[in-house]
Amino acid sequence: MMKILVVYYSMYGHTLKLAQAVAKGASKIPGAEVMLRRVQEFEAVDQIIDQNEAARQVREQQQDIPICTVDDLRSADGVIFGSPTRYGNMTAQMKQLIDSTSSLWLNGEMEGKPAGLFTSTASTHGGQETTLLTMMVPLLHLGMLIVGVPYSLPEMIHTEARGGTPYGATTIAGGKGELQPKSEDLDIARALGHRVAEIASKLRG
Ligand SMILES: Cc1cc2nc3c(=O)[nH]c(=O)nc-3n(C[C@H](O)[C@H](O)[C@H](O)COP(=O)(O)O)c2cc1C
Repeated sequence: MMKILVVYYSMYGHTLKLAQAVAKGASKIPGAEVMLRRVQEFEAVDQIIDQNEAARQVREQQQDIPICTVDDLRSADGVIFGSPTRYGNMTAQMKQLIDSTSSLWLNGEMEGKPAGLFTSTASTHGGQETTLLTMMVPLLHLGMLIVGVPYSLPEMIHTEARGGTPYGATTIAGGKGELQPKSEDLDIARALGHRVAEIASKLRG
C-alpha cells in the first residue's frame, strides 16, 4: 500500500477544506492510502482560541483528525503540506513540525519523495506565492521532489480573484474569513493531491 500524507494547519477552516480536497484527489490513485493529519497547536494559541467562537468551532471540527507525527512523515511515500499564510510565510505551527524532522534529515528518509503545497491568504495579493515558495525551501533541504500544478488544468487560466498558481493550491479567505474556497480552488486542490499521489506511485514502480 502506498501512503500519501496530507498534513495541514488551519485556524478558521479554509486550509482544512483545501486539505480535504487534496486528500480526495490523492485517494483516486489505485493503491493509495491517504493519511489526513493536522499540525499540533501551540498551547498559547489554544488559549486564545478558547475566546474566539469561529476558531473554537473549527477546532472542534478537527478534533477527530490525528495530529501529525514524525513517524507519519517517515512512513509516507508522498506528502502534501498546507498552511495559511502568516506575513507571507507558513505558520510557526507548521514550521515547528518541519523543524522536528532532523532525525529524518540525518538518515535521508524524505529524500526522493514527492511533495506538494497549498495555502490560504486573507487577501488576493496577501502572499500566496511567497508562502508556497518559502515552504519549498526546507523540503528541498530534506531532499523532497517539489510537485506543482501544471497549466494544462483549465482552472489555472483566469483573471478574476481566486486561487490558481503553479506553485500549489490556494484559496482566498477574506479579511474576516468570510469567503469560502471556490469550486475552482477545490478542483485545483484535488488535482494537486492526485498529481502527487500519481507521481509517488510511479516512483515506487
Ligand atoms: C499573524 C497573522 C498574519 C497574517 N498575515 C497575512 C498576510 O500576510 N497576508 C494575508 O493575506 N493574510 C494574512 N493573514 C490571514 C490568514 O492568512 C488567514 O486567516 C488564513 O488564510 C485563513 O486560513 P484558515 O482558515 O485555514 O486558518 C494573517 C493572519 C495572522 C493571524
